[in-house]
Amino acid sequence: MMPLEQVLPPSAAVTPEGHLSIGGCDLVELAEEHGTPLVVYDEGALRATARAYREAFEAHAPDAEVIYASKAYFGQAMLHLAREEGLSVDVASGGELYAALQAGFAPERIHMHGNNKDLREIGEALEAGVGTVIVDNLDEIAVLDREAAARGVHQRVLVRVTPGVKPSTHSYISTGQLDSKFGFSIEGGPAREAVEAVRAAGSLVLEGLHCHIGSQLFDLSGYGAAAAIVADFAASCGGDDLRVMDMGGGLGIAYTRADRPAGIDVYADAVVEAVQNEWGRVGLPMPKIMVEPGRSMVGRAGVTVYRVGSTKVVPGVRTYAAVDGGMSDLLRPMLYGAVYEPILANRADAEPTQTLRLVGKHCESGDVLVSEASLPPVGAGDLVCLPATGAYGVTMASNYNGVTRPAVVFVDEGRARLVTRRETYADLLVRDV
Ligand code: LLP
Repeated sequence: MMPLEQVLPPSAAVTPEGHLSIGGCDLVELAEEHGTPLVVYDEGALRATARAYREAFEAHAPDAEVIYASKAYFGQAMLHLAREEGLSVDVASGGELYAALQAGFAPERIHMHGNNKDLREIGEALEAGVGTVIVDNLDEIAVLDREAAARGVHQRVLVRVTPGVKPSTHSYISTGQLDSKFGFSIEGGPAREAVEAVRAAGSLVLEGLHCHIGSQLFDLSGYGAAAAIVADFAASCGGDDLRVMDMGGGLGIAYTRADRPAGIDVYADAVVEAVQNEWGRVGLPMPKIMVEPGRSMVGRAGVTVYRVGSTKVVPGVRTYAAVDGGMSDLLRPMLYGAVYEPILANRADAEPTQTLRLVGKHCESGDVLVSEASLPPVGAGDLVCLPATGAYGVTMASNYNGVTRPAVVFVDEGRARLVTRRETYADLLVRDV
């Protein structure tokens, strides 16, 4: 059996030499050719996941719109792929909007988020003609209306509400609770005030509501709980004009073999059923459902390959193995205490016989990639693969310590193509005037 079968991309295999391969490409060869750290995406898996999402929602709600949350990984290759596979795209800033437009998305398939969109971003969204702007505060509603009027356009808007649901996930990635910097709370009246403000705005069209309760969710019951609260709210607003319900993203993925995320089909069923049941209960017309998956669209398809540079034993304490990346290409362990399970790319068939601490190369004690890594004996030159790094890896990367950001390669059916080149030292200085 393939080690870490549920965590690695489905195409992962071990070659006769004991090397890990993805999409028919040997990771040891890719590391030789492109250097390390190297981010490798299984393109077939990305496409299959995009299709699985579309098909699952088409089966449960034919008019549903699946919107890829580009913050998870917004390389141009991925945005092109998402567009080709018929997904829409969610952008959370002017920069992500620019990337989506560059990738050729029809503007009406772009949905613009942000809890503090500035005047320039609002102007860019209006001029592009994005499908919806998801409004997050009253200041924004006033500015958006004024700027839309100045351009003689009517902008479709979703009001982002927080239902007061706290899903079980890390507090940094939980957003549906009452005390949140995102959206308008239903409790206490802000959401109602926002709906009224949009209805009263001459250049805004109230299209519907938006609600994203959190990310990396295994327990899908939060969607039902949120839908019930939002449906009551919609009914209390006389919500016949609310044609859209956007349930955000959030489906979790497996980072370790112990994780058991729901399948896309189960998730689609849960979301659609939650909205249909609750809207039926309150007697409102069925809204068009939108969802914004990010992590579950790209997370499992991506792996990162690092090279071990040194190991060290602290007698009586532990063994350390240091790799050529770390918090600059994968911040999640440090930021959320996220746990990953490594596998040796150059001896993928070797039994794990020791526990060591896999650390990065940064000048920070907290630069730990895997606190308790179960691996075969490793030494300088070995290649360590961290599975499930496809989401919120390179998009959260930095240049801390002047470390250059990794190259990204897409692999499929034995072919590899470089989609993002490695940063150079010159790139590090290019903005200094
Ligand atoms: N829609 C909205 C409005 C969001 O805020 C997010 C994620 C998504 C969709 C996509 O959620 P997903 O399907 O990926 O769970 N950097 C963190 C995750 C932050 C998520 C922020 N919002 C991490 O690495 O875990």
